[in-house]
Amino acid sequence: MKRRRFLVGATVVIGGVGTAFTAVPFIASWQPSARARAAGAPVEVDVSKLEPGEQVTVEWRGKPIWVLHRTPEMLDRLATLTDSDRLRDPLAKVATQQPAYITGPLRSLKEVYLVVIAICTHLGCVPSFRPEPGSVGDDWPGGYFCPCHGSRFGFAGRVFKAVPAPTNLEIPPYRFLSNTRIEIGVDPEPSTS
Ligand code: FES
Repeated sequence: MKRRRFLVGATVVIGGVGTAFTAVPFIASWQPSARARAAGAPVEVDVSKLEPGEQVTVEWRGKPIWVLHRTPEMLDRLATLTDSDRLRDPLAKVATQQPAYITGPLRSLKEVYLVVIAICTHLGCVPSFRPEPGSVGDDWPGGYFCPCHGSRFGFAGRVFKAVPAPTNLEIPPYRFLSNTRIEIGVDPEPSTS
């Protein structure tokens, strides 16, 4: 009797799984499972609706990743922040903080989009997005402020001096699949030209 009950139960479960796959074959084929995501499967982000000044948070390898659409004003403020008097690593020379193909002070593949790991390099808190100039002190040009111990980062994730965080925010590997689709966790194809 017990064995019979088990067989009936097993049939129902197997039938249920089959139905689920039949009902959502397309979704199952492109959405990485939670386990695959935790193990590091790439994550795709559509930024076509992301307005200038907005950012979106996605999860990759269990970490929050910000994608910020920088405004012309943000880029202007970034351009004026190039000196090592205010920033620890203005030209992003510390190699461990970004992939080798991310170079220069903007720290991005495309000028307007910043893709950055949202984890403070001091002790791992998540900083808050504070884009308004002056909102974190008179000389605040806008950027990211860590509420735990006061570390400050600009719109390229570059760390200011005189704060506890030792290095810039880390940039993950990523590539553009189109002008408005970003894949996080995968390096760009090497150029053939
Ligand atoms: S964890 Fe961000 S300042 Fe300490």
